[in-house]
Amino acid sequence: MEIQDWKTIGFGYRKTNLNVRCYYKNGEWGELQLSDSEYLNIHMAATSLHYGQEAFEGLKAFKGKDGKVRVFRMDENAKRMQHSSDGILMPHVPIETFKEAVKLAVKKNIEFVPPYGSGASLYIRPLLIGVGPEIGVRPSQEYLFIVFVMPVGPYFPEGFKPTDLLIMRQFDRAAPLGTGKYKVGGNYAASLTAGKKAKAEGYSAVLYLDAREKKYLDECGPANFFGIKNNTYITPKSESILPSITNKSIIQIAEDMGLKVERRQVPVEELETFEEVGACGTAAVISPIKRVYDADEDKEYLYGNEPGTWSTKLYEKLRAIQDGDAPDPYGWVTVIE
Ligand code: PLP
Ligand code: COI
Repeated sequence: MEIQDWKTIGFGYRKTNLNVRCYYKNGEWGELQLSDSEYLNIHMAATSLHYGQEAFEGLKAFKGKDGKVRVFRMDENAKRMQHSSDGILMPHVPIETFKEAVKLAVKKNIEFVPPYGSGASLYIRPLLIGVGPEIGVRPSQEYLFIVFVMPVGPYFPEGFKPTDLLIMRQFDRAAPLGTGKYKVGGNYAASLTAGKKAKAEGYSAVLYLDAREKKYLDECGPANFFGIKNNTYITPKSESILPSITNKSIIQIAEDMGLKVERRQVPVEELETFEEVGACGTAAVISPIKRVYDADEDKEYLYGNEPGTWSTKLYEKLRAIQDGDAPDPYGWVTVIE
């Protein structure tokens, strides 16, 4: 593909060569296996199908100017999948198994890693599902861990161009003591209606408020929220949001650039005071926001049509580390050998 085509590929499923699979049976994990099938043959009473016993991850690999392929922070994704597993009673995929599966999946599909400078990357999707049959609501005895990959463009098609977010109080994505902090499918099913409505009205995502009081900002669809003012990077602290690895990385970069960082409850009204606002995540990278519309209050918050100075600096530094253009003092990238 030409660079121009890579720029417009969007964020969608694409078939690649091989995927990696590993079964858990009789209390233990088997060997990694390669498959060229895009399909699974699982029991119709599998717990993942009925009771949502499934967790997934999302991470990316990037091709550098030097031709090397780098995977970003896969140990963090491995740990988060274990955390999600704890939340819905699935066995841990061992960290080493997770990392080996990711490396193997990238290696076997290396020709699908988009070229340096294309703005596209290889999206890696690890998935853990209950495959054993149960009809009572209880955890499965058997599991399947899969890693598949595909080339993608930015999640919000505008890429690094600012977009709009929508606040609606009639929808919640996750309950305060529920599963919002785990990367499990049910949270995403719960977000489909609100997400569809927001997109139909021209917004890139829903900006969810805390479900208990509707007073504080939670997160934006498939990404965390941040606001910047007075040289301070501010991001919500909440029990019902996914702990974003991108956000954690930006926090580190921000601190090293001399920004103050606050992780705390962020009241909705504080939107008025931010100089810059953005969404961040693996798929979203850093997506600057130009406008937040609070539909219930008929109130809009505006941040300008161009990405802000700090958002741009943070974006460029993060991407440079991922591509291998900047040193990696934190040990975040793994070169695929
Ligand atoms: N929040 C939600 C709900 C997500 O699905 C994601 C995507 O993974 C994020 C935040 C961002 O997390 P990360 O930066 O680890 O991709
Ligand atoms: C990611 O950023 O990796 C995600 O998982 C977001 C989304 C595609 C669900």
